[in-house]
Amino acid sequence: MEKKITIAIDGYSSTGKSTIAKQLATALGYVYVDTGAMYRAVTLFALRNGSIADTDEDVDNIVSLLSEIRLKFVPNSSLGYCEMYLNDENVEAEIRTLHVSQFVSKVAAIEAVRVKLVELQQAMGREKGIVMDGRDIGTVVFPDAELKIFMTASPEKRAYRRYKELLDRGDKVTYEEVLKNVEHRDYIDTNREFSPLRKAEDAIAFDNSDMGLKEQFERILSYSQRVIARA
Ligand code: DC
Repeated sequence: MEKKITIAIDGYSSTGKSTIAKQLATALGYVYVDTGAMYRAVTLFALRNGSIADTDEDVDNIVSLLSEIRLKFVPNSSLGYCEMYLNDENVEAEIRTLHVSQFVSKVAAIEAVRVKLVELQQAMGREKGIVMDGRDIGTVVFPDAELKIFMTASPEKRAYRRYKELLDRGDKVTYEEVLKNVEHRDYIDTNREFSPLRKAEDAIAFDNSDMGLKEQFERILSYSQRVIARA
């Protein structure tokens, strides 16, 4: 039988990591895990509890709330992928709003939050056969992943894609607002103290600024098949 591998897909926000990771997992019959959804769910919980990670007190409060947070990915067979549940509530739509996006990088910079979520992610990948996307998958969560992809694209291209996605969902946002959020998140994600976003040395750099989805998927699928054949 074919050996299963671990595939880590990291990169900047709105580079289309999750779209490719989802397609790849389906094609390979692997499990897909969107770690950004986990940081978003913790952020939603913090916001609902009046903490936005701005002051030391907020951070302490979020850390003390962590034990009350239960995260679960539940398959939705009609959609063909899993949705994020926070304490048994489906929060898939709420965690994707610009409001949550505006605070998530701050929450993701808290060490105790990262420790908790990395532990959960490592447990999910114990059996391999997993495609996980995020910011620190190839560097921290699975440093021994057999295939690591680091996705990039210009901030303007990424903001435009995200802007269209939010409009399609009926959110009232402006392109400028979304671009500002993308740039702000890039700054916090790459400059935070704990597990900042960076390319793992053995990751394949993948700039998709001028590449359609089909081409991206075919290229990454072919990298995967080559690595699986050698595993
Ligand atoms: O992929 P995303 O945009 O849904 O991620 C939301 C935020 O969570 C992003 O600002 C960075 C953070 N994140 C992280 O720090 N580590 C991960 N493994 C995944 C996401």
